[in-house]
Amino acid sequence: EETATANITEVSHAVSVEERAQANGHRGGILWLTGLSGAGKSTLAMALERALFERGWQTFVLDGDNVRNGLNAGLGFSPEDRAENIRRVAETAKLFADAGMVVIASLISPLRADRARARAIGGQRFHEIHVDADLATCEERDPKGLYRRARAGEIAEFTGISAPYEAPEAPELVIDTGRLDRSEALARLLDYVDEALGKA
Ligand code: PPS
Repeated sequence: EETATANITEVSHAVSVEERAQANGHRGGILWLTGLSGAGKSTLAMALERALFERGWQTFVLDGDNVRNGLNAGLGFSPEDRAENIRRVAETAKLFADAGMVVIASLISPLRADRARARAIGGQRFHEIHVDADLATCEERDPKGLYRRARAGEIAEFTGISAPYEAPEAPELVIDTGRLDRSEALARLLDYVDEALGKA
């Protein structure tokens, strides 16, 4: 039976993963930040991008809010659309990581099954990081006013209110943004990244 990929053979790259790591002084990888809306994923992601860039690292943030304007335009927040959103970002992140970069993927990614698929796509390079603040804290912060609107019934399937968030069971790292201030949270993350990806 003919499948869409039946006549496709992978071509090998002329530059190896090791050569890229040597040239960059660090390895490529995927830092997958998961957490509730308002937990601080984007803030932390952008601060980490800045900090790594200033050290001369190759790094780029893939943020759910941003990719939903382009790559993932047209996808909503049904379970199916979230799964596809996460799958596409995971595949994109893998390409960036293969290119030697430290990709910081910042998505709510609320379901364990979807994150498990992202991990399967990323393989060894995938690092799951729970940006952890409880619902009450996120709702109190409500930086975009989305919780208020969700409570008022104006946003369907809002994570934490009318759609589930399944906390990671065995993430590589937990950053408790309910307790840590921004600089402490960033320092924890930088320590982890150094340890995980710092050696070429
Ligand atoms: S997901 O679940 O991983 O596909 O979500 P993600 O791509 O990260 O997008 C989350 C941002 O979309 C806004 N938004 C919603 N979030 C959750 N549920 C619903 N129904 C929803 N509608 C819009 C919201 O601003 C999220 O941004 P963050 O930065 O997480 O607050």
